[in-house]
Amino acid sequence: MNLETQYLGLKLAHPIVASASPLSRELDGIRQLEDAGAAAIVMPSIYEEEIVAEDTAYEALVERGSWSQPEATEGYFPEAPAFRVGGLQARLETLQRAASACAIPIIASLNGSTPRGWTGFAAELERAGAAAIELNLYRVPADVNESGEEVERRWLETVEAVCGAVSIPVSVKLGPWLSSPGHHALRIAAAGARGLVLFNRFYQPDIDLATLAPKPSLELSSPYEIRQALLWIALLAGRVDASLAATSGVSSSEEVVKYLLAGADVVMTTSSLLRHGPGHVSVLRDGLKQWMEGRGFDDIGRVRGRLAAAFLRDREALVRAQYIHTLTGFQGQS
Ligand SMILES: Cc1cc2nc3c(=O)[nH]c(=O)nc-3n(C[C@H](O)[C@H](O)[C@H](O)COP(=O)(O)O)c2cc1C
Repeated sequence: MNLETQYLGLKLAHPIVASASPLSRELDGIRQLEDAGAAAIVMPSIYEEEIVAEDTAYEALVERGSWSQPEATEGYFPEAPAFRVGGLQARLETLQRAASACAIPIIASLNGSTPRGWTGFAAELERAGAAAIELNLYRVPADVNESGEEVERRWLETVEAVCGAVSIPVSVKLGPWLSSPGHHALRIAAAGARGLVLFNRFYQPDIDLATLAPKPSLELSSPYEIRQALLWIALLAGRVDASLAATSGVSSSEEVVKYLLAGADVVMTTSSLLRHGPGHVSVLRDGLKQWMEGRGFDDIGRVRGRLAAAFLRDREALVRAQYIHTLTGFQGQS
């Protein structure tokens, strides 16, 4: 059975990729994911502000140490394991070691906050051996004076700048809240991105009624969350010059199959691996194989995008009639 797929021009043994999460932060975790059968691994994002804060704090500590210790020499560094572990250097070293130790592609993820940060860190990630870079465009446009057009233009400029600064493939992890996600996806691809990762999952704060303060909340996903990405992957499959990665809501091989039928080149998962451990990768892959065997498919190429045309054909129904029909036909839940 042939499960091979191409993603960002990289040849993968099958379509299941471990998306950015703490599981791939350290070399041990990356090795476990590879041993479990992940076809590629995305490392957690490097956040520019975090790196700058860590470096500033570390430098302050170093300077304070050398100023207060007359005997301090060039070789003098105060003990600061927390900063060393989290700092850029450590992240690059982990990437470097993972890239040379693993046979599968190791994809770095970047979330910059300044134009120089985006391009500078991207170049460092390429030098450290990343097979590709995923741009995590996570940013809540909380400034009410900023128009959607301005936000999107800045993202496009970022993509263009990063693609111009590195020679490895770049993918873009997009959020779903755009007036026209499909059109924006086409523009992102035209700006140089080789792949789109649909969709980023935004973590929305709750309110803690005991402390009367906003409370960050992070819940793992559930399968019903595949639908938004499923729709857009189906609408974009074969119509955008970029690989399509599905992310959000994968729990079992059923979601993997659905995303592939819609047209995803790869299917990413984080929540299922955090819930069940890295070994769940092989459960997903074997489930996909079994489903294909049961349906008489021996090549994943025959599965991928099989239902995209059906989504497209029903586009009118999807965007309006189906919506009305679904709402007016609701019978309540038993
Ligand atoms: C604990 C945790 C950490 C994450 N860290 C990152 C990250 O560093 N960068 C990123 O782009 N996405 C990050 N994500 C998002 C995941 O990569 C993924 O896109 C999201 O969880 C949706 O996929 P899922 O439904 O399989 O969990 C994180 C998610 C979780 C739960």
